[in-house]
Amino acid sequence: MFFREGLARIGKFSTPHGDIETPTVMPVINPNLNFLTKEELKSIGVQAVITNSYIIKRTASLEQDALKHGVHRLINFDGPIMTDSGTFQSYVYGDIEYGNKEIVQFQKDIGSDIITILDIFTKPQDSYEQAKAAVYETSRRLQEVNTPDSIIAGPIQGSIYPDLRRESARLMSEASYLPIGGVVPLLESYRYSDLVNIIINSKLNSDFSKPVHLFGGGHPMFFAFSVLLGVDIFDSASYIKYAKDNRVLYTEGTRNLKEIRDFPEWSPLFNKYSPVELIKADEKTRLKLLSLHNLKAIFNEITEIKERIYENTLYQYVEEKSMAHPALYRAYLEMLDHNLEPFWNISLKSPLYFFNSSTYKNTFIKRLVKFTEDYISNGKKTVLVSYRQWRHGFPVSDDILRSYETTDYNFLIEWNDIFIPMELENTYPVSQMVPSGVLDKIYRDDYIAWLKSINNDISFYDPSITGSEKIRNYSHSKINEVFHLQFKARKNLFVNSDKIIKSKATGHIRNIKRGEKIIATMRNDGFLTLSIYGGKLLNDMLDFPASRVIVTDDSGEFNSQGYNVFFKFVEDCDREIIAGNDVMVTSASGDLYAVGHATVSGKEMGFYRNGIAVKVHEGINKL
Ligand code: GUN
Repeated sequence: MFFREGLARIGKFSTPHGDIETPTVMPVINPNLNFLTKEELKSIGVQAVITNSYIIKRTASLEQDALKHGVHRLINFDGPIMTDSGTFQSYVYGDIEYGNKEIVQFQKDIGSDIITILDIFTKPQDSYEQAKAAVYETSRRLQEVNTPDSIIAGPIQGSIYPDLRRESARLMSEASYLPIGGVVPLLESYRYSDLVNIIINSKLNSDFSKPVHLFGGGHPMFFAFSVLLGVDIFDSASYIKYAKDNRVLYTEGTRNLKEIRDFPEWSPLFNKYSPVELIKADEKTRLKLLSLHNLKAIFNEITEIKERIYENTLYQYVEEKSMAHPALYRAYLEMLDHNLEPFWNISLKSPLYFFNSSTYKNTFIKRLVKFTEDYISNGKKTVLVSYRQWRHGFPVSDDILRSYETTDYNFLIEWNDIFIPMELENTYPVSQMVPSGVLDKIYRDDYIAWLKSINNDISFYDPSITGSEKIRNYSHSKINEVFHLQFKARKNLFVNSDKIIKSKATGHIRNIKRGEKIIATMRNDGFLTLSIYGGKLLNDMLDFPASRVIVTDDSGEFNSQGYNVFFKFVEDCDREIIAGNDVMVTSASGDLYAVGHATVSGKEMGFYRNGIAVKVHEGINKL
């Protein structure tokens, strides 16, 4: 199972000293000042750490020790260790005395698990030409040292210039590990909305199979945003930096040690030390204990974020977080202005929270509105059904049903402040939504004006439109509209003679049958799951390669028997596939092997080599 939401994912990355489950944070270990033991680190949830090879190399005693015994002995940590290269020091202090090849070789010699090239730090205030030169020089430096026998981190640079970040992401994707660099000054000055742009431009143009690391992004306030946008790993020096300033870290921010009465219950210091005792303690003890507390705050946030991904409520969490600081709110709005729709799943396990008209920027609603535009573009008369006229929930009231079935009009129902196709009343997120009830008349009026700009025959529902003869069946229209939305199709998959079986308890559609054969079932999210028979009908209907995942012949044989499709056997696919949606598994010439649901979007599928690409429901051998 691929746990994901938006661009967030639960992942696993293997290194010579063990696997790293992401998202996670690598605490920065200063080789000169290493005061937390590996047991203390691991007790908090630390899997991997990052240290600096430049600091080690520059200090004769550390250099000798590291060359003789390895970096793991030097800092006394037996899990994965990433080393940085001195780029950041050269940004802060000016030129450093080592070259790229030299510092990379040194990292290899001391046994680092993840080796960082000497990239060129691009500052936010760099000119376009400066940043461009840095991007190409950084790429050249990667080429100079990139070998398949080591894990090489190739930082994506490009300052605040979107096209340079995109170009850098493409160039650096040859590396096995992708940090996003040059962002520390932005994080320090709360420029989160610039960061959102940088992360999106970098992520969407990089190789999705590689871990993405936000260099220096160690404050928990911005973790959830970053993870939703595809960051897998963070590093943090802030846990020590704050401890040095007597600052106590919480997920929402910091407090001064002198101003708090007690440590929170989750703190490793709770019930062991009071803040007053810590103030009185010697500096070394205080630094150690506060660092431990701060690191725990950081890992609490990671634990929460992982839980949110499993539960599919990370977006909601980001929405909550956006209110923690005005700069985060701006970043949140910036994020909503990007087109991230291709990466969002077909539905979520959690309901959509509707707050106010800003919720219309939610990806699921944008999808719904786009569909509404297509739906009314047929030029037919369109009827707007207000709240009062249709019973919110299920099923639609009898008089509206009669009007629907005796006309061929488009029916839009009022949902929050907008109008959407009535046939989607049970499809995510229409009925899987928790409304605030906060309405916005201006938004509603503007929306109606927009609808009228697409279809000029729009009016509010009036029972007198009802005809005398039944010309269509609502349930049939419903399954066909869901089909149109789900498979971006215009034609109908289902015909009038297909039998619709409903749940006796709820009245909801459950199965659709042709003769004795099931074509599809309707899930709780209101979308369809195809049987292999349904897949065969779809394969005959849709132009190739829409909704197809094309696999090798060898894989096809297994998939025909109902086994899952692995990424490494995927030869090609429809780039428009929505994660979680049903797909057909076929050969290059379009022969159907199986139906199942895609675990990732069509934009991502070609990148991965490990794991399941399509969870197969049924193989063709079952037919
Ligand atoms: N640490 C913080 N930012 C950076 C960066 O851009 N590059 C490297 N190598 N290390 C960093």
